[in-house]
Amino acid sequence: MRVLLSSDELAAGIDRLATEVRAVVGRRPLTVVGVLTGSIVLVADLIRRLEGPVQVSMVWASSYRGTATRPGELELRLDLLPDLAGRDVLLVDDIFDTGRTLEALLEELGRRGAASVRSLVLLAKEGRAEVATRPDFIGFDIPDEFVVGYGLDFDGAWRHLPYLGVLEEDEIAATRAARVASTRAAEVAVCRNADGRG
Ligand code: IMP
Ligand code: MG
Repeated sequence: MRVLLSSDELAAGIDRLATEVRAVVGRRPLTVVGVLTGSIVLVADLIRRLEGPVQVSMVWASSYRGTATRPGELELRLDLLPDLAGRDVLLVDDIFDTGRTLEALLEELGRRGAASVRSLVLLAKEGRAEVATRPDFIGFDIPDEFVVGYGLDFDGAWRHLPYLGVLEEDEIAATRAARVASTRAAEVAVCRNADGRG
């Protein structure tokens, strides 16, 4: 795996983001709304650098299934959100790719009577946006490659890496092949049991 952003570079980016957010919001209380699961590491680091009062809440969004590297249908869950009426809200996600996740979530949050709703992403992929909305704060613009680590996953793996890495085509292919092999093995086991041969 190729390192795209080291943990030192990520830390410097998050310091810069925290400073930019406070320059706009001032010392007013901020409600940080993280997007599960990819934003967990970013939220944990960001809230410790955001000086001043902060509340944290999470929503869930997913558009990837298993070993896909291009988005599928978007699913959202917002049932853990507190009352946002009158609050200054900062929606925080790991990466802005097509922008569909952020756009849909901003629309949902916009209906809840917040005083303001802004958005922050650690990463934005160049040339991929399919929506007019842009995040208010962007940590790093990156090329159109599939990245993992620092919260971002591929098929549920690699979120724990302290740096951001580019997953090469052969690593993606190997993970897909392993997934196909284990699905086949499970199907064979089910057939054997059904035949009474297991
Ligand atoms: P969007 O709706 O297309 O902007 O996709 C945003 C979501 O897709 C992010 O929150 C990530 O969960 C996921 N995603 C997009 N690109 C990558 C990537 O390169 N690595 C891992 N996850 C990604
Ligand atoms: Mg995500």
